[in-house]
Amino acid sequence: MTARIIDGKAVAERLRGQLAARIAALPFRPGLRVVRVGDDPASGVYVRNKDRAAAAAGFDSATIHLPADTRESDLLMLVEDLNIDPAVDGILVQLPLPPQIRPEMVIAAIDPAKDVDGFHPVNAGRLAAQQPGLVPCTPKGVMHLLREAGARLAGARAVVLGRSQIVGRPMAQLLLAADCTVTIAHSRTRDLPAECRRAEILVAAVGRAEMVRGEWIGEGAVVIDVGINHNGAGKLVGDVAFDAAAERAAAINPVPGGVGPMTIACLLENTLEAALARRG
Ligand code: GUN
Repeated sequence: MTARIIDGKAVAERLRGQLAARIAALPFRPGLRVVRVGDDPASGVYVRNKDRAAAAAGFDSATIHLPADTRESDLLMLVEDLNIDPAVDGILVQLPLPPQIRPEMVIAAIDPAKDVDGFHPVNAGRLAAQQPGLVPCTPKGVMHLLREAGARLAGARAVVLGRSQIVGRPMAQLLLAADCTVTIAHSRTRDLPAECRRAEILVAAVGRAEMVRGEWIGEGAVVIDVGINHNGAGKLVGDVAFDAAAERAAAINPVPGGVGPMTIACLLENTLEAALARRG
């Protein structure tokens, strides 16, 4: 079998176009504020991409860049200002934060109604309790891609590789809500290759370059590779050894060009949802 290639860039472009059309019809511009603390270069790229995509889709978007030695209390005060600013519908504080700032304190300070990352414990709880709320962008983007790939989810054996708060855990919740039979596999799982091989839907989110080998992929599986890693040669690769996996999978996304663009599109989708919920 040679896999169908899932073009995340194209799906994300379409979604951003739909969002732009909905925003153009609104009597107001939904507001997004992205906060960056310090000078982590990767964060710089992500924040710029988010800001650009938001502005292009018609959001009132701005980035607030604070120095690396910002005190936690000062960041918490900024978050409070954004919480009460009526022009702001979505707040995103880019991670990682410098060591003097506890990310859990910052996330907990964000108004859950403006938490467009979906990281606040209230939103994580709502997702687990099957109540409406803001859902983390990367897993939300993966669900879009799975539907786009025509994956039959109800009853399917889904394996999520990785148990992070940002991707693995919410991913498992979303697949469960879509009636998959979900396994969360991780670094302590016994016989990872065997667990992966059973998957009809495999979502890899471990952050280790090409850890998932071709032999780990079941024939006809739909594979979503969330990873963005540099391999030994400095090349950008996913968590899955793409060429070998593509010989067995029914569908797989490339890296780059897969989940990354979807994460940004879903951030915009969340910001629009937050705006509509707040302003009616
Ligand atoms: N750092 C890496 N991914 C993310 C994300 O989705 N949101 C935020 N806020 N920071 C990140």
